[in-house]
Amino acid sequence: MGKFTGEFRAAPWLPTNAIGLLDQLIHPEWDIIETGSGASTFWIAERARSVVSFEHNPAWGGAVTGEAARRGLRNAFILTDEGYPRSGLTGHLKARGIKGYDLALIDGRGRVRSIETAIPFIRPDGWIVLDNANRPRYEKAHQILAAEGWKTTVLQGLIMPEKKRGFTQFWRKPSGSTSKQPKKMRIRISEPQTDAGAERKP
Ligand SMILES: C[S@@+](CC[C@H](N)C(=O)[O-])C[C@H]1O[C@@H](n2cnc3c(N)ncnc32)[C@H](O)[C@@H]1O
Repeated sequence: MGKFTGEFRAAPWLPTNAIGLLDQLIHPEWDIIETGSGASTFWIAERARSVVSFEHNPAWGGAVTGEAARRGLRNAFILTDEGYPRSGLTGHLKARGIKGYDLALIDGRGRVRSIETAIPFIRPDGWIVLDNANRPRYEKAHQILAAEGWKTTVLQGLIMPEKKRGFTQFWRKPSGSTSKQPKKMRIRISEPQTDAGAERKP
């Protein structure tokens, strides 16, 4: 991870190949969920119909909200909530009333909880994108998605300008998924797969 400078980065805080794939995927009519606000919030808002961005840090949430307004991005909704990493996304997403989100970029606090609660709001064939996917503490999220039949690709690339190596995992929801809340997992936790471009076989 790079430095938390308090200044807005020029591009999303992701490996360049993950940014490239997101750029290819995102359609102008997509509604997107994000956790962890920042440069990615503006970048997504410039490409999609809407982005709802969950932020745990009130000062940072205020700064991102102000910058989005300064840039004229009226489709970026920053939800500053210190509790979301534990409580998850359900309440806020239900309140927004959009049922089928096209993609969730999970890059904030409480990533497993965020993924568990984002799943029912992602449309069939939609995406969950998890940054820093090789952290062992996210393994439960991988297990839940794999058990629900989501297909996945891991991208390994460089985060610029630091030139640090990063891992971003793209998960795609199966067509016709019923989007039920995940049941409690009884699967053994295995080593995360981190090979460049490797397919995770559920
Ligand atoms: C991994 S960062 C999220 C980065 C964001 N998704 C992006 O691509 O720009 C996780 C948290 O770091 C904080 N943060 C993000 N960018 C920051 C910056 N430039 N300086 C200080 N804190 C930052 C926010 O609280 C954010 O929720």
